[in-house]
Amino acid sequence: MERPEGDQVLLKIAYAGVNGGCETFRCRGSSYTPFVANQKAEKFVLGAEASGTVVAVGENVKCLKVGDAVTCSGSGGFAEFIVASAQSCFPVKEASAEAVVLTLSGLTAAVALKATGGPLKAGEHALVTAAGGATGHMGVQLALLAGCHVVAVCGSAAKAERLRDLGASRIINYREEDVGEVLRREYPEGIDVAYEGVGGPLRDAVLDNLSEHGRMLVVGYISEYPHVKPDDGEAQGSGGLPPSRELFWQRQTVKIGGRTIYGDVWSGASRQDIPAFRRELFDLYEDGQLKAWVDSRRFHGLEQVSDAIEYMLTGQAIGKVVVSF
Ligand SMILES: NC(=O)c1ccc[n+]([C@@H]2O[C@H](COP(=O)([O-])OP(=O)(O)OC[C@H]3O[C@@H](n4cnc5c(N)ncnc54)[C@H](OP(=O)(O)O)[C@@H]3O)[C@@H](O)[C@H]2O)c1
Repeated sequence: MERPEGDQVLLKIAYAGVNGGCETFRCRGSSYTPFVANQKAEKFVLGAEASGTVVAVGENVKCLKVGDAVTCSGSGGFAEFIVASAQSCFPVKEASAEAVVLTLSGLTAAVALKATGGPLKAGEHALVTAAGGATGHMGVQLALLAGCHVVAVCGSAAKAERLRDLGASRIINYREEDVGEVLRREYPEGIDVAYEGVGGPLRDAVLDNLSEHGRMLVVGYISEYPHVKPDDGEAQGSGGLPPSRELFWQRQTVKIGGRTIYGDVWSGASRQDIPAFRRELFDLYEDGQLKAWVDSRRFHGLEQVSDAIEYMLTGQAIGKVVVSF
């Protein structure tokens, strides 16, 4: 086992989260992403986020001690033990599965909706796609907490029911209703802020129905990821926007008239701002104002990581898919 040095800590992992984007890109080393080097690499880290307990610290670590519960992102997660920099760890009360949900999925929604495309104003029309998913249900709740009217788009009756319990104002199950048609009919003045992670025709339907000064946050484009489409072919733009993958990986911000489309949902915050966003999320959660959904299907150990990723990619999961160790 690696020993932590300098400002590193050794963590015993309790739960690792399955992330909608990172896992497919990392595993396949997709050619247009920063993970391209993985295609030739013999060894690379998998997993985007985890919770665990500190079991050893490097000689320079002052802020953490053995026994502390933390979450961390950016150092892997699909492992029994990982070495992470102390700065990438966030102390938590308990190394739980819910803490994993807040760490990256929740944080992404918070930065996108409070900083990059925010702040949201009470009464604005907010729309969230993949709304029953890990980052989506966070986006729905943060928009509701800001006093928005929230349109939640999802792909199953089970997700719709859970989103109703959260208090979403209008739920569109895209397997039963045409999203573009509903938006044109019920929201003629348009959507003010969209948190959009699906891409493809859904991205176009949302873009077509953005209000005059609307903001669209392109958090991802999972319907076009490598598990659906080979990633080496030509990609088409639409509606005046470049292809999602270009918008996303080149971190473009595009203006179409008064509308703003953000390809990088993190662009509104600096690295130094992140701990405050995370603290606020955990406070809301601990205060009972925010729910962190963990999917009910259980996966355990390294041997079930690929099953957990495949399951997330089926689109059935509600909230975050986690693997326990
Ligand atoms: N930019 C960032 O830092 C960041 C961080 C976290 C997540 N993301 C992105 O946010 C999106 C959601 O990620 P997540 O981790 O929260 O996952 P998730 O929403 O928990 O799971 C993925 C969901 O996407 C929807 N989906 C639509 N078409 C799909 C397809 N062809 N294949 C698989 N799923 C499909 C499904 O829900 P419905 O059928 O109900 O729509 C599915 O449940 C992804 O695009 C991801 O890359 C980005």
